Amino acid sequence: MLQTRKREESPSRIGDAVPMKAAERLASSMEAEAPEELRERLSLHLPRLIDRLGMLYGCQDDFQDWLECLHTRLLRWHAERSPALRQLDRERLSDPAWFQGEDMIAYSAYVDRFAGTLKGVEERIPHLERLGIRYLHLLPFLRARSGENDGGFAVESYDEIEPRLGDRSDLERLTAKLRESGISLCSDFVLNHVADTHEWARAARRGEEGYRRYFHILSSRQDADAFERSLSQVFPQTAPGNFTLVPEAGGWVWTTFYPYQWDLNYANREVFLAMTDALMGLANRGVEIFRLDSTAYLWKRPGTNCMNQPEAHLILQALRAIVDIVAPGVLLKAEAIVPARELSPYFGFPDRTGEECHLAYQSSLMSALWVCLAEEDAGLVRKILQEAPALPPRAAWLTYVRCHDDIGWNVLRDELGTDSASRLAKVSQFYAGETEGSYACGRAFQSSGADHVHGTNGMTAALTGWSGAASEGERTAAEHRFLLLYGVVLAAGGIPLIYMGDEFALGNDETPAESWPPGADGRQLHRPVLAPHMLTGISDSSTRAGAFFARFRELVSCRKALPELAAGVPTTVMEGLPGPVLGIQRGDKLRCLFNFSHEAVTLPDFGEGWSLKDVLGGQAVAGPISLPGYGMIWLQSGQEERRS
Ligand code: GLC
Repeated sequence: MLQTRKREESPSRIGDAVPMKAAERLASSMEAEAPEELRERLSLHLPRLIDRLGMLYGCQDDFQDWLECLHTRLLRWHAERSPALRQLDRERLSDPAWFQGEDMIAYSAYVDRFAGTLKGVEERIPHLERLGIRYLHLLPFLRARSGENDGGFAVESYDEIEPRLGDRSDLERLTAKLRESGISLCSDFVLNHVADTHEWARAARRGEEGYRRYFHILSSRQDADAFERSLSQVFPQTAPGNFTLVPEAGGWVWTTFYPYQWDLNYANREVFLAMTDALMGLANRGVEIFRLDSTAYLWKRPGTNCMNQPEAHLILQALRAIVDIVAPGVLLKAEAIVPARELSPYFGFPDRTGEECHLAYQSSLMSALWVCLAEEDAGLVRKILQEAPALPPRAAWLTYVRCHDDIGWNVLRDELGTDSASRLAKVSQFYAGETEGSYACGRAFQSSGADHVHGTNGMTAALTGWSGAASEGERTAAEHRFLLLYGVVLAAGGIPLIYMGDEFALGNDETPAESWPPGADGRQLHRPVLAPHMLTGISDSSTRAGAFFARFRELVSCRKALPELAAGVPTTVMEGLPGPVLGIQRGDKLRCLFNFSHEAVTLPDFGEGWSLKDVLGGQAVAGPISLPGYGMIWLQSGQEERRS
């Protein structure tokens, strides 16, 4: 049994909304007391907030009093927002599609690996500008537990910066500087768990009942086993199981990830309030986008895999309503690495469309890209894009090739059906360089054999064969593969994300495992240091990295110049193309074609009477199209010049 207050034991009381009259009374008194600017936002979003919180916590004692307390916080969070941030909120309210343009390009980096410190990041703004970045995702920079901390994802204090990276004033200055350059800072917000050294966990260890209720602490191993039967595992090899025995805390603590990451108990409304307080604190320091980490795991329900539960969505919808009221310039991004059918609810589908996160990682597309590259067939990507729902107006996918985590294969099991185990096993072996003819030098992650593949690690350069290329021919093929994958994410519809170092084909971190940080796992491969000489070196296009950077940048610039590639423009998957070829049509005039095979293919004339231009090559195109191995072409139809 979960050790929570009696009223919190039945977290599934969806539908127990606060009596409507009481909610209306509360809403009108809140509105009356609010400053002018907030009134309209309150009248628009407060009913939704009260509704979601009512469904989550409405049956608990003193719910009305608790709402009053939340009301005071709303006013305080708003009062603490600086004039510059309030101005930003106003601008974004008047341009709600601000993040969906063709010029929106994201970049993701670890502060220490990318630039040493937050001040160092400030010095690297020119590099980001050169690449055309408008959105910078910095991996966790809040004070983490010392020793093992999962790359910073075990946060000890949400109010302090990790001392070796800087301090709060560095963060505030960085956000302001980035804003001056038109770049929005995205911060991780680890929502699901805190470090076992966080003050709440310390208090729980001391046996303080109020704080024990911040976590899920099960009194017996049998209770833990009952849950385990339906749970999956995130790190089956390095952190098997989902519970950790902590005798001082009085039992088995729920630890979905590493044993030192304690899952929070959102059935306790104080957890919701405290975490929202932390999020708003960062928003008021200038963070504009939150990557809400591990959103799938926020709610536990016996007999289920405790992922994607309806209440997890209510929590996110409540957070969205708070952001819409207090800081409407802020975006929420769901990090939910789940099968495609479970992903669209993070945008609020089907019945609360657009009322949840603004952004979500399109992880199935990412993993499918790698499957298609290995299999030299575009079928899986085609299927994923065809089945992706059209998004609500103020929402976008985050499309990406690589990130700081492994490529997770399990998200594809639905699409691959009965074939999934054998196909994924082959793909995993291919990227680990274990297959005859493989060009890749990545490594399998958390996989316990060919039948139980889990993920693959490696930088794009390592997986596409750039790092291991032994000849110019091999390097050229690798470069084409690399740019092909980035070409798809730049064209598929969404905000494309570049992972640090990919802009100049940086390879795996080669530091010997003995020198890795304590407890680092195989994902350390994609945490290479971007040394200063590398960034100065890429200005020289006579070097390999410099030449690659120039071509990569050119591709990004092409995307930024094509309004058809803005996130909101409809994406259609073209039918009738040969197996290895993916064709994506954006709007009426742009068709992007990608050849996943090493062999050239010839395609029919797509002109249909219109003149065509290859926007990547800058040439006019007529007649059948020849796509080289791993080649791509983006064809724009001329507006006026109909061919006779
Ligand atoms: C997310 C992060 C990952 C981390 C995990 C636990 O999935 O991307 O790096 O290990 O959450 O916080």
